[in-house]
Amino acid sequence: MVTVNRNYLKLPGSYLFSTIAKKVSAYQAANPDVEIVRLGIGDVTQPLAPAIIEALHKSVDEMANAETFHGYAPDLGYEFLRSAIAKNDYEARGCQISADEIFVSDGAKSDSGNIQEIFGIDNKVAVCDPVYPVYVDTNVMAGRTGDYNKKNENFDGVIYMPCLEDNGFLPELPVKTPDIIYLCFPNNPSGAAITKDKLQEWVDYANKNGAVIIYDAAYEAYITEENVPHSIYECEGARTCAIELRSFSKNAGFTGVRLGFTVVPKDLVREDVAIHDLWARRHGTKFNGAPYIVQRAGEAVYSPEGKAQLKEQVAYYMRNAHTIYHGLKEAGYSVSGGVNAPYIWLKTPNNMSSWDFFDYLLETAHVVGTPGSGFGAHGEGFFRLTAFGTYENTLEAIRRIKAL
Ligand code: MLT
Repeated sequence: MVTVNRNYLKLPGSYLFSTIAKKVSAYQAANPDVEIVRLGIGDVTQPLAPAIIEALHKSVDEMANAETFHGYAPDLGYEFLRSAIAKNDYEARGCQISADEIFVSDGAKSDSGNIQEIFGIDNKVAVCDPVYPVYVDTNVMAGRTGDYNKKNENFDGVIYMPCLEDNGFLPELPVKTPDIIYLCFPNNPSGAAITKDKLQEWVDYANKNGAVIIYDAAYEAYITEENVPHSIYECEGARTCAIELRSFSKNAGFTGVRLGFTVVPKDLVREDVAIHDLWARRHGTKFNGAPYIVQRAGEAVYSPEGKAQLKEQVAYYMRNAHTIYHGLKEAGYSVSGGVNAPYIWLKTPNNMSSWDFFDYLLETAHVVGTPGSGFGAHGEGFFRLTAFGTYENTLEAIRRIKAL
């Protein structure tokens, strides 16, 4: 008889954002007249920029003619997009990344979940706590962890790096040496950013210990401060220890379009094996490429018009971040994030648990956010609001929260 992957049974409950969506739907069904403001999941609300729409229309028309029709995309992604990425995201920032080290995908969520597959099952994984749940859950599914520990609200066998108020929500180098280190900066969920010097410490640590850093830079477009790196490859030595994940979801509004990429430098070698070759093998076998029209839309992100339009879009969301941050401060909350990231991280009032505050906010202000404990045990007592709503809804949410 067939057996199931019992690692899945170690996972408590459903995926965080599915749980929230279910709760909100149930509340809305029971209270149909209530106007809920949703600042929970980090989903964008602004339409695709005109340069992107134009590229989409043009490439859709190409698909209507035999001469310009495109079938399967090349394994790594189209050269036009990979070159645009190498030039604009890396060369322009002084990073040495070539087009053939870039793997185009359908988004950073899939890549951040799939990347663990090319590493041995016995590797020790380190994650920040709180953390984007995909990194942990996918390692659980793969069998790289022990059981869920109900009391500590974490998994046995995972190295958790607490990101606390006292350390500016940044992780410290772990006492136990990990093999795979997940870092996300600017951070989801806390909105904390890391300076180049601090990130350099992680790169040096990984190189010294033979570890690999999986660096999720999905929110780099929101960086406003000078000393905050946009890519881990701005640090010396990162080519021999780091993989970088990028997304078009947050900088260009592609949450529903789906496009991302992963950088695996050819100098990243472990056990005499080029990690690049393993990821290429996996990509070629399990993925058939992001659609041509979507890759053309991605190329438009790097056009002069695209860049100008997206700068405005990012500024729009950052105005929301500013509104939330200062609005909450005025209301007496302890707040962080929102300066280099589209997430605001607040301390729940009166030592309320994160889920109690979620319910309280939903029921009294009809505002949805994300409970910090959903991101890990050390997120307890915190709450995340996203700046990806509309400006009007953001103003309304803050008005309601201030009125509580
Ligand atoms: C979030 O809200 O944390 C993100 O939108 C989730 C994601 O990007 O998958």
